[in-house]
Amino acid sequence: MRRYKILLAGSLCVTLLLVVLSADIHAKEEERKAINNTAAAIEKPTITSDWQRYFPRQYGAWKQTKNSHELSDMVKKWPALAIVWAGYPFSKDYNAPRGHYYAVQDNVNTLRVGAPSESVDSPLPTACWTCKSPDVVRLMETNGDLDFYTGMWNRWGSEIVNSIGCYDCHKANSGQLKVGRSYLNAGLTAASLPTFEQSTHQVKRDLVCAQCHSEYYFRPTPNGEATARVVTLPWKDGLGAEDMMKYYNTGSNFPNGKPFSDFENKLSKTPIVKAQHPDYELHLTGIHAKKGVACADCHMPYTQEGSVKYSDHAVGNPLTTVEKSCIPCHRESEAKIMSILKEKYDRKEVLFGMAVNNLAAAHLEAKKAWESGASAEEMAKPLSLIREGQWRWDYAAASHGGFFHAPDETLFIFAKSNDLAQQARVALKEVLAAHGVKNYVAPDFSTKEKAQKLAGWDMASLIDDKKRFKKTVEQEWIRQAKENGILDTEIRDYKDDVSSYYGNAK
Ligand code: HEC
Ligand code: HEC
Ligand code: HEC
Ligand code: HEC
Repeated sequence: MRRYKILLAGSLCVTLLLVVLSADIHAKEEERKAINNTAAAIEKPTITSDWQRYFPRQYGAWKQTKNSHELSDMVKKWPALAIVWAGYPFSKDYNAPRGHYYAVQDNVNTLRVGAPSESVDSPLPTACWTCKSPDVVRLMETNGDLDFYTGMWNRWGSEIVNSIGCYDCHKANSGQLKVGRSYLNAGLTAASLPTFEQSTHQVKRDLVCAQCHSEYYFRPTPNGEATARVVTLPWKDGLGAEDMMKYYNTGSNFPNGKPFSDFENKLSKTPIVKAQHPDYELHLTGIHAKKGVACADCHMPYTQEGSVKYSDHAVGNPLTTVEKSCIPCHRESEAKIMSILKEKYDRKEVLFGMAVNNLAAAHLEAKKAWESGASAEEMAKPLSLIREGQWRWDYAAASHGGFFHAPDETLFIFAKSNDLAQQARVALKEVLAAHGVKNYVAPDFSTKEKAQKLAGWDMASLIDDKKRFKKTVEQEWIRQAKENGILDTEIRDYKDDVSSYYGNAK
């Protein structure tokens, strides 16, 4: 009897414990559901502040991308950029990336998009907005991709006003991931890779970023009478630097049957392919990706708050969150990690500089060769070497995190680029000699001012036009967006404007 009582009491205790535990599990499950979904519809998902009622933690962290406000002027740091991109808008103005909060503002501010007005269009197409805003997803959903990609950049000035937000990575009202830009799946399919929907959860934690942090080009595509410039990922032959060069060099990949180039360098007349931040592609070649670590693991680490685990949405420099981003996998001290990274960064800077300075010299030497009477036939080999070398330099350079994501690959590509640039210079020496020019020394491009002058820009008037545009056209765009109720007024305050030409960039 006593034994029976003990057993009864024991099983009662267990039952009680189970009830308590299951209530706790239930509560956690509810919390998880609440954190992932909200039944209440957010009427305008492009208004990011409307999400905060339901997802205050993610919203609060997301807003902190505003804290990464420093702007670093890359042309000032590396004047050679103005020479290698001569004739292309990038040589006017190019800055290192900063917080997601600033994507729209920096796109409007850059001298690259020009100073459009009622009578003058921007020199760049609408496609330049693609990676800046959830308003892009809205326009693609309402009017279709082809319409979005038709016309010049200024067409969407009053429509694309909110910087990268929840609706860029999530289904409306939910923490479930999605990609709202169809070219990503098109690129994955061309590369025979699973689409976003077919991918594992961990791969999706990379692919939401790959929507924007990837190499692309604007593919001319007919839209009735007009031509749309459609963002296209050149992944058909693979995702490496060599694969993509092969793709761009193969005429049959393009509607006009000719190898692709974004522009012709104004000084050397080299047809150039401009690389655009292949962060995802370079990351794939690094040890972290090979071990299954995704972008979000470092840039959006899990954070524990009581019983709630959520992702830190302050996407930025993981070295400010080493405790959450790195220490879960590494036992090294923070100081040790920092010193390892500093060494990687410094080595990258040396090879970056060698390659780009040799490329810039080659462009100027080619200019001299043309002026000295060189024929197109004589120039074919050196120009082809410049094209190949510059593609590789730009591929490694445009991915600002490459020195860490994939240090071997980054240094390897810079080394190849530098070799090709040197070969071009040797070939040019021969061409110059054949036309009686010996010991030619390219003009000095050691400061931003000198280099942009050589590139042929009248910077003072470009900047004047831009400042006028900002006081007039931009203000009108903001007014219209407010009137149409599409501007998230809680977030954009337009107060802290930073740009290379206001003199407040680094
Ligand atoms: C750049 C892409 C991106 C943006 C912008 C973004 N998220 Fe997320 N979000 C993610 C990723 C990646 C995860 C992790 C998903 C996973 O592993 O299930 C996530 C997870 C979530 C979750 C699930 C719980 C958690 O924290 O892991 C919620 C809820 C969420 N996000 C809400 C938001 C809200 C609200 C915004 C806007 C204020 C936002 N997100 C902006 C990429 C993004
Ligand atoms: C909708 C396009 C888009 C998506 C999606 C996106 N990014 Fe970005 N990202 C940008 C742009 C544009 C910038 C540069 C903003 C600027 O300089 O004004 C940027 C900047 C950054 C920076 C530099 C931040 C700083 O403070 O210096 C990091 C790091 C970054 N992104 C990582 C990520 C990661 C990780 C993901 C996925 C979780 C992601 N991004 C998703 C477009 C995007
Ligand atoms: C193993 C951790 C890790 C992973 C995985 C990772 N990153 Fe990074 N990322 C870093 C670190 C560390 C830096 C260097 C930060 C610094 O020194 O400025 C960085 C730098 C960057 C930068 C340059 C920021 C700047 O302002 O110069 C971008 C953009 C970026 N990462 C995007 C991504 C994207 C997109 C992915 C996935 C395709 C990714 N990262 C995967 C850790 C990681
Ligand atoms: C999810 C686990 C994980 C996270 C998070 C992670 N790492 Fe790693 N890291 C690894 C693994 C696994 C390796 C490969 C180790 C090996 O195979 O010896 C590695 C290798 C490295 C290496 C040496 C490889 C190289 O490229 O030189 C460095 C440096 C490094 N990690 C730094 C970092 C930093 C900094 C962070 C945070 C921003 C970080 N890691 C975040 C798992 C992780």
